[in-house]
Amino acid sequence: MTWRATGIGLQDLPPGSKKEVLVEGHPVLLLHHMEQVYATAARCTHSQGPLVDGKLQGNRLTCPRHGAVFDIKSGIVLQGPYGAMKTRELTIYPARVQDGSIEVDIP
Ligand code: FES
Repeated sequence: MTWRATGIGLQDLPPGSKKEVLVEGHPVLLLHHMEQVYATAARCTHSQGPLVDGKLQGNRLTCPRHGAVFDIKSGIVLQGPYGAMKTRELTIYPARVQDGSIEVDIP
């Protein structure tokens, strides 16, 4: 694994919040959910919708653009846009907190 700094401290990501950051040129979405930090690709696989503006309910993140729903732990598409299931899985990045700073593993 190659852990990379996000420049974001855990104090910058309160429980229940999301933040988009650029890490090594990759737009990454950080989520602080249920006392865990998760990291996913920041753009929807359907048509690049900004997932930072999506709604999180449990592990389900809904894209604000056309309503695709992803599982933030696995990246699996739970519901495609308008009921279609043609959207690709969302990339998930391992995330950790080191000395209060959030790091992600980007291969
Ligand atoms: S861009 Fe996300 S569902 Fe279309």
